[in-house]
Amino acid sequence: MEDLVSLCKRRGFIFPASELYGGINGFWDYGPLGTELKNNLRDAWWHDMVHCPPIGPDGEPLSIVGIDSSIIQNPKVWEASGHVGGFNDPMVDCRETKSRYRADHLLVIANASGNGQMYAYVKDDEESYERACKLLAKYEKVDAIDESYVTTPLVSLSAEDFARVVGPDTKEAGTLTEPRQFSLMFDTTVGATGGDDNKAYLRPETAQGIFLNFMNVVDTSRVKVPFGIAQVGKAFRNEVTPRNFIFRSREFEQMEIEWFCHEDEAPKWYEFWCDIRKQWWQSLGLTTDNLQMRQHDSDELAHYAKEGCGTFDIEYQFPFTAPGFGELEGVAHRGNYDLSRHGEFSGKKVNYFDQEKNERFVPHVIEPSAGLSRGTLALLSEAYTPDDRPSKVFMKFNPRISPIKAAVFPLVNKNGMPEIAKKLYDDLRTKHVVQYDVKQSIGKRYARMDEAGTPYCFVIDGDTLDDNTITVRDRDTASQERINIDHAENYLDEKLAR
Ligand code: GAP
Repeated sequence: MEDLVSLCKRRGFIFPASELYGGINGFWDYGPLGTELKNNLRDAWWHDMVHCPPIGPDGEPLSIVGIDSSIIQNPKVWEASGHVGGFNDPMVDCRETKSRYRADHLLVIANASGNGQMYAYVKDDEESYERACKLLAKYEKVDAIDESYVTTPLVSLSAEDFARVVGPDTKEAGTLTEPRQFSLMFDTTVGATGGDDNKAYLRPETAQGIFLNFMNVVDTSRVKVPFGIAQVGKAFRNEVTPRNFIFRSREFEQMEIEWFCHEDEAPKWYEFWCDIRKQWWQSLGLTTDNLQMRQHDSDELAHYAKEGCGTFDIEYQFPFTAPGFGELEGVAHRGNYDLSRHGEFSGKKVNYFDQEKNERFVPHVIEPSAGLSRGTLALLSEAYTPDDRPSKVFMKFNPRISPIKAAVFPLVNKNGMPEIAKKLYDDLRTKHVVQYDVKQSIGKRYARMDEAGTPYCFVIDGDTLDDNTITVRDRDTASQERINIDHAENYLDEKLAR
């Protein structure tokens, strides 16, 4: 992971936000290559889900339309959605180290009789667990902690036991606060007067903008249930522990579809969307071995998830989770929770009339909700390929999402080569993102393109002057072939065609 983060910084994919001022935890800026990569992922999603949507179970393309809603909405929206009140995690602070932990992520280990000190560690964090065991062994004056010692969730301890817990980063007991609620929503003030009456929130998910516009879309477009509304955009969450690069940040982007259907058909669509979305990530180059589907346990379900149906996560094996997996996209069955609540809280009609069946109902919703930022990280992780070539690494992006599609180099900056190369570059750049580079040795230029993940390099050399041929170098194999310069455009078109 460190190597990937350093490549991202070195080559201009992703930088820490406000780096000049020491950064700001949980915020990131995308550089020239990262912006192209993220935009390509976003555009591929929009193309494949909205412009050219998947074929449905009946053999017909689905109907999905896009919207772009405001980040700040009437604060009542978040009461209706359940985010005010529901969208927070119980947190535990350490008074000594000022560290903050999710209470449900803390476990404690202690001797079976429950007397003596208890040592807290963070769930799924090997280092934290080992530290707790080491301290406990020292306290108990034993060589190692064996199976006779027991692990308990911190939240299930009595007040008396709680007082005997040593925090994950301290050595003394009694520094942890009782779990308390912590809102994940960023708030702000609308207008000049300030005060609680003018408080508003930055959206924690793009989904609510879709629910708010459900009636507008039904009334103004020719959509009929079942259909989907898609949106890509920023979401903000004041995450307690932003970490793992852009995996969990406080400002990030989502690509969400709310699929509106009749309640009776929801199970069928739920299954459909789980399959389609997993296949889609595979189509961009994420390998089967690195992807898995995982059903949420009942204690992880979001407040809107429909009972008995729940949520499937599409998980990816990120470098920092391996051999485990981390969430890339959630496919949730939200029931008719959101539309009903907006109907209730606004007092307006939020439902659908099926003219064929002469039936009015509140549609149920299947929601494939993907992380655009997290997806970018998955693509970066998948592409990172160590190799024994001079650059020691290349980024094996699927050409569809490569930030740069091809580079054009004159072998040397003289003998008429730059002029020919420039002409080829001018021809190609009107159709594809290509780069022209004359600086440094050809080996260094290849290395730069390998790190940028550029699939093809065209080189104009001495032979070009004689026979009009150029070299094409393939990023993945580093092999070279010669083609006629007049065929370069077709060559690239064919290679990039899906
Ligand atoms: N509308 C449903 C919803 O927001 P979620 O599981 O909370 O569901 C959906 O978020 C996706 O958004 C996640 O699968 C993940 O890819 C992305 N995501 C959520 N929180 C994130 C964060 N703090 N940083 C980066 N991506 C995040």
